[in-house]
Amino acid sequence: MGMFIEHCRNRNTNQMNELWVEKHRPRSVSEIKGQPAVVERLSVYAQKKSFPHLLFAGPPGTGKTTAAMALTRDVFGKEFKQNLLEMNASDERKLEDIRNKVKQFARTSPFGGAKFKIIFLDEADALTNDAQGALRRIMEQYAETCRFIMSCNYSSKIIEPIQSRCAIFRFRPLGDKDVLEQVQEVSASEKIVIDDEAANAVVAISLGDMRKALTALQVAAAIDGHVTRNMIYETTATAPPEALQQYLLACREDGFHAARRRLRELLDKFGLAGTDFVNQLHRELYNTDFLSELAKLDLTELMAEIDFRLVEGGGEQLQLDAMTARICQALTQ
Ligand SMILES: Nc1ncnc2c1ncn2[C@@H]1O[C@H](COP(=O)(O)OP(=O)(O)O)[C@@H](O)[C@H]1O
Ligand SMILES: [Mg+2]
Repeated sequence: MGMFIEHCRNRNTNQMNELWVEKHRPRSVSEIKGQPAVVERLSVYAQKKSFPHLLFAGPPGTGKTTAAMALTRDVFGKEFKQNLLEMNASDERKLEDIRNKVKQFARTSPFGGAKFKIIFLDEADALTNDAQGALRRIMEQYAETCRFIMSCNYSSKIIEPIQSRCAIFRFRPLGDKDVLEQVQEVSASEKIVIDDEAANAVVAISLGDMRKALTALQVAAAIDGHVTRNMIYETTATAPPEALQQYLLACREDGFHAARRRLRELLDKFGLAGTDFVNQLHRELYNTDFLSELAKLDLTELMAEIDFRLVEGGGEQLQLDAMTARICQALTQ
């Protein structure tokens, strides 16, 4: 075991000093994977070198920050950093700080004869409604010389007066094909060997989040330059589909005690928390062919309840046992 850790550490120093998510971040709008509706519209802005205020909404790891940087680079070329002010709203909770930075930045005219400068406010939904109200006034004040790009997870958390001043772009979870393509490109470029079923496992655990996919790939590759399917599941706290199916089968065929033992083994082996297990089991439920549609609906309701109780602080062992008991009951009726 000691040798193994030593081995990891050595590879770590070689491979972990640069994050692949940064190294392989698309530099131009045209390199962004998936998001066809977004890319199409942003390409027009890149071409015209002009655009209105923008609001990027969507789940994590789907390319919002990437798109903001890529568009800025497409519009301003190599010197884009001179015309870009980047702020993260979850770091700069005080609007006063934002106001001061914007003021400072907007004072000088755009670099290299550009028509405007870009202010990128990442995770804008971290701002309170009051702060957003003040932000709106800042946007108006500097509208002549600055364009704002804001990102958020949910556009509904951004106040209406800001939404109505922006062109809104919705980012979707990336498709399997897009994630697979990027995983294979990065693997080739980093000269690692990845089995096909390992690449598909990366796609499965990513759930359309490219950051999650590339991070999982790098973590596994740091252990061994030949990445296997098992490594991906073991390093991402994800149970492989067949293990979840076996648990369900055990509930039906072998009864409570056997199923309970299997569940405990799964949690240990893959390092899952109770809520991880419930959520992964829920996703896998729809791939089982030995359950009726009605049974799936029943079990979904049950899992939602157990998940809620776990989140609310119900004891993990007890809640998971209760779930196993009820699944056994439902499947053997
Ligand atoms: N659509 C995409 N195409 C290619 N790579 C992507 C895409 N979306 C995300 N990535 C990769 O994932 C990383 C995180 O993406 P980011 O744009 O920061 O996500 P977020 O939507 O959370 O702002 C990027 O550095 C990039 O390597
Ligand atoms: Mg981001």
